[in-house]
Amino acid sequence: LIEAVNAREILDSRGNPTVEVEVLLDDGIVQRAAVPSGASTGAFEAYELRDGDKSRYSGKGVLKAVAAVVDELGPAIEGVEASEQRIIDEILIETDGTENKSRTGANAILGVSLAVAKAAADSADLPLFRYLGGPNAHLLPVPLFNVINGGEHADNGIDFQEFFLAPIGAETYGESLRWGTEVYHVLKGELKSAGYNTGLGDEGGFAPDLPSNREGLDFLIRAIEKAGFTPGKEIAVGLDVAATEFYKDGVYTVEGKEWSVDTLVDYFADLVANFPIVTIEDALAEDDWDGWKKLTDAIGSKVQLVGDDLFVTNPKRLQQGIDLGVANSLLVKVNQIGTLSETLDAISLATRSGYTSMLSHRSGETEDTTIADLAVAVNAGQIKTGAPARSERVAKYNQLLRIEEDLGDAAVFAGRSAFPRFKG
Ligand code: PGA
Ligand code: ZN
Repeated sequence: LIEAVNAREILDSRGNPTVEVEVLLDDGIVQRAAVPSGASTGAFEAYELRDGDKSRYSGKGVLKAVAAVVDELGPAIEGVEASEQRIIDEILIETDGTENKSRTGANAILGVSLAVAKAAADSADLPLFRYLGGPNAHLLPVPLFNVINGGEHADNGIDFQEFFLAPIGAETYGESLRWGTEVYHVLKGELKSAGYNTGLGDEGGFAPDLPSNREGLDFLIRAIEKAGFTPGKEIAVGLDVAATEFYKDGVYTVEGKEWSVDTLVDYFADLVANFPIVTIEDALAEDDWDGWKKLTDAIGSKVQLVGDDLFVTNPKRLQQGIDLGVANSLLVKVNQIGTLSETLDAISLATRSGYTSMLSHRSGETEDTTIADLAVAVNAGQIKTGAPARSERVAKYNQLLRIEEDLGDAAVFAGRSAFPRFKG
């Protein structure tokens, strides 16, 4: 039974305050969870409550959310069985009472929801992935390493936010981690010798001031080859365009020019024809449903099209996309929706509808590794949690190594099969 719930304000990887929650059970178990925070947030995400008190952390403090946990959310679930995750998440949602979790804050609610799951797992003496996924949880995800950072995550001129390496040809997760990391280091050398800055962006990728988005893909391919791998066969590439960030009044501004949606769709079709691209996320803006339909009709059979800002891990937005035949993959961010149960609902709706799912970190992260366990629990087959650098990113990749070791011979690496539409 849940005996007490505590919360505090801690810092995330950008030096901004965030919520950490601790749950104490009557058997003496204590577990904690910390909440991540995005920069290129979708307009339809659950509400992140910040104090707005300019005298502390430029208004970004989370003392109100902390107080909501201590004074309201915690007391509402005291005495409830910790393994009753769905009942607990329902109580949290009802206690908040708003559609977008804006009264107590989705950051407060998520911290409680995740800490409860971890405490229940510990109390059952199970690792989190097995507690959540049961005996069927055994698929290790392909890591999508975001090795070039642009957009809102870096102070460079690259429009596209993320450039991924996807080591789909590895035999094991551990091998895929080594491959991606080796290419990451070769990429640094390539950028350096071409005269580019090799400082890091928010997600641990390099943040060079490249002249075009295409140049980013060229660098990835060169680095893959130079590290001794075959592009496409062993290591594929991918993009998170985060197009909402450069979309206004029906126009996309890319590389200093104004592009119509049709031009942009043709541009992506050309990229897919010329590079071994397995996945493109948020290729278009979060409210450009017509554009998304055109894009999906044009290239959706050849490449994974992921909805992040488009779906915001919300089963209702995802259902809308499914009904319209828009995109074919769901990005999963626990703090976009705010409870573990609703996150699981979004993933199972995606799976039932033939959409793939990719677990995801946020650009503002902590040492919390819950998403690594979640990826294996639901057999998602894909996870993106930054470059193999910066401890808040590497913490998730390292946790997956432990899970793979724990599963032993039962572990299966998703590899190519995680991307059923990829033919390259
Ligand atoms: P965010 O970026 O965490 O800043 O929203 C991640 C993403 O867009 O996938
Ligand atoms: Zn995204």
